Amino acid sequence: MKASPSPGCGRSDLHPRVTVVAREPAARGTYVAPTRLPVRFGGLGAALPEQRVTNADLAKRVDTSDEWIVERTGIRERRVVAAGQGTSDLAVLAARAALTDAGLAAADIDTLLVTTCTPDQPLPSTASFVARALEVRCQSVDLVAACAGWVYGLVNAASMLSSGVSTTTLLVGAEVLSTWMDPADRTTLPLFGDGAAAAVLTGGTAAGPDSPGLISWDLGIDAEACDLLGVPAGGSRRPSSAATLADGGHYMKMQGQEVFRRAVRAVEASCRKVLGAGGVGAADIALFVPHQANARIVDAIVPRLGLSADQTMMNIERYGNTSAASIPLALCEAAAAGRVSDGDLVLVAGFGAGMTWGTALLRWGYDGSGPSSPRTLPADL
Ligand code: ACO
Repeated sequence: MKASPSPGCGRSDLHPRVTVVAREPAARGTYVAPTRLPVRFGGLGAALPEQRVTNADLAKRVDTSDEWIVERTGIRERRVVAAGQGTSDLAVLAARAALTDAGLAAADIDTLLVTTCTPDQPLPSTASFVARALEVRCQSVDLVAACAGWVYGLVNAASMLSSGVSTTTLLVGAEVLSTWMDPADRTTLPLFGDGAAAAVLTGGTAAGPDSPGLISWDLGIDAEACDLLGVPAGGSRRPSSAATLADGGHYMKMQGQEVFRRAVRAVEASCRKVLGAGGVGAADIALFVPHQANARIVDAIVPRLGLSADQTMMNIERYGNTSAASIPLALCEAAAAGRVSDGDLVLVAGFGAGMTWGTALLRWGYDGSGPSSPRTLPADL
């Protein structure tokens, strides 16, 4: 095996320094395992704040440049909420878009799962605010697994649907990461953005081996590394105080290089496990939807798995890392662009603080009328 230039997921101009290991041509699986947890996507929807912050805007605030950010991350701009707007504002917009796409009313859902690591406030759950806005009284809860949150949510939703605990689930990934950014920290400021996306999920009918749903999955945590990325203050161990405010403990801290290394290792291993369990080779995958954390992380993972840029959904250029919202936002855009059809095999993989990971292999089934463009949260709302 010898090193070769990165294929760059279609953007090799963005980060030419990355080298990857050369690989054999993409393989096909010998068989595809049956669906274990039937799930259909009844509808999809997304929401973004109106305000765009470009790399040039950031370069006016901290010592950075468009060139550095694009080369090291692939990000060109991100969306940022206005003061006073919270995660639930975006979540509700995305949820309404998904319900419209599904042709359902909020009253039709019997489970609301909100995956977020940036709740509106420490208590109550963000799901409470979403439920209030949607005027629903069904079981409603937050799931916290950072950037792997939506895949954790998907597997949990599928389990609930398959066991009869739920019949129609609204799964929302929503984040406002901008308010956790230290305005003076150039190492985190360029990476993160705000956004939300939602899916209406149903258990499907007449479940069989080829039904839409989850074929295989892998959820895990590398908890030894849980201090590499986090917000140290504002919780029970170090409550907010004048001291935490003064030392910036309420801002996100990250050891970026170590997170990068662990992300590549964990996502590659997890995807291999899931593909192996599904009996699926890289060539069988119609669409790979990785968490959009850093284009260089994806560029390192994609060729190692034998996947190609054409199979990979990327939109990090426009939104940055939106944590739990990133995978459903990318999935929504992929579905709107016709990049996935019923029966296709779709691989989703997230990795984030904790350090958590979540990977799932899906047989795609979609009943919506077609996801619309992401809805906009006006800055003056
Ligand atoms: N502009 C200019 N220079 C910068 C910037 C910037 N924005 N940020 C850092 N630098 C400098 C550093 O100070 C350093 O300078 P020095 O050599 O003089 O000390 C140099 O650039 C290199 O810094 P590194 O940290 O080594 O840069 P790296 O190539 O590792 O890129 C990055 C940093 C983009 C943060 C990368 O490590 C990364 O993406 N890590 C993974 C982040 C991630 O995936 N998080 C996912 C989870 S998020 C969640 O769970 C919510």
